[in-house]
Amino acid sequence: ASTVLLATDKKVLMAPAMNPKMWAHAATRRNRATLQKDGIAFIGPAKGEMAESNEAGEGRMAEPLEIVAAIETMLDEKPKPLAGRRIIVTSGPTHEPIDPVRYIANRSSGKQGHAIAAALAKLGAEVRLVSGPVTIADPVGVATTHVETAAQMNQAVESLLPADAAIFVAAVADWRTANAAGEKIKKVAGKGPPSLQMVENPDILAGIGHHAQRPGLVVGFAAETQDLIANAEAKLKKKGADFIVANDVSHESGIGPSGVMGGDRNKVRIVSRAGVEEWPEMGKDEVAARLAALIAERLQTVVV
Ligand code: C5P
Repeated sequence: ASTVLLATDKKVLMAPAMNPKMWAHAATRRNRATLQKDGIAFIGPAKGEMAESNEAGEGRMAEPLEIVAAIETMLDEKPKPLAGRRIIVTSGPTHEPIDPVRYIANRSSGKQGHAIAAALAKLGAEVRLVSGPVTIADPVGVATTHVETAAQMNQAVESLLPADAAIFVAAVADWRTANAAGEKIKKVAGKGPPSLQMVENPDILAGIGHHAQRPGLVVGFAAETQDLIANAEAKLKKKGADFIVANDVSHESGIGPSGVMGGDRNKVRIVSRAGVEEWPEMGKDEVAARLAALIAERLQTVVV
């Protein structure tokens, strides 16, 4: 393989995997430095368990999806309009505990928020994703903080300020239980169901939209089942957002059997002070790419 490589004029990416002692050896380090000087790129190796038992360290092959992302980055010669921009994205649901084993949640999958984080990173942004509990993987090339509750998400977002933009895609629970029980609530015969006292969660978007360190561009989402545009316009003002991405999450939205939440497709309208722009139904990845392009365009006109 190495002889054949001498004859190529194409870019070369190495994804080495090796026993940690071999990888750390001075001879390997010298050879690697020589290859890098010759313009050969590397992905990994990562730290972790080896295939051989009782061996761990630096030498694990990079994950296949990381290799794919590295190839994409290498072949991507598109301009990076968001280079040097720091962008916060929230994604997924929140879980609000009732007791140690029960919680209140919603149907958000995190697909749209994660896709937006990935699309912004592709345009060169330094993305900080704050994700509620989801079953999908962290987007490659995005620094992800995992949280469970709205209060934790709020704290994580605040700690990431200052930023050039913040995109609030997470379906944050509006309420949490006033006092989550420390022990599992027991079913007691004849006592009936427990009543849950709820208190309001912090509105993270509104908090950042009116913050002293407000990012130059603040984008919110509005998942509604009725009065989509009127609700989005009200939210724009109340939450201090520059634009609201409104989507119809009702079963009548006509999008797939599972609707927008959890599904792969979305149909959105962009509501701003300039008016309402309706986008056709498309995949969540495509919504993300178009939104990232719109954010890049807007950031070019925002003075920071
Ligand atoms: O008021 P509503 O929950 O419909 O607003 C949705 C928008 O506000 C989304 O962008 C969501 O991420 C954000 N939000 C928030 N914190 C909350 C509630 C909503 O950031 N507690």
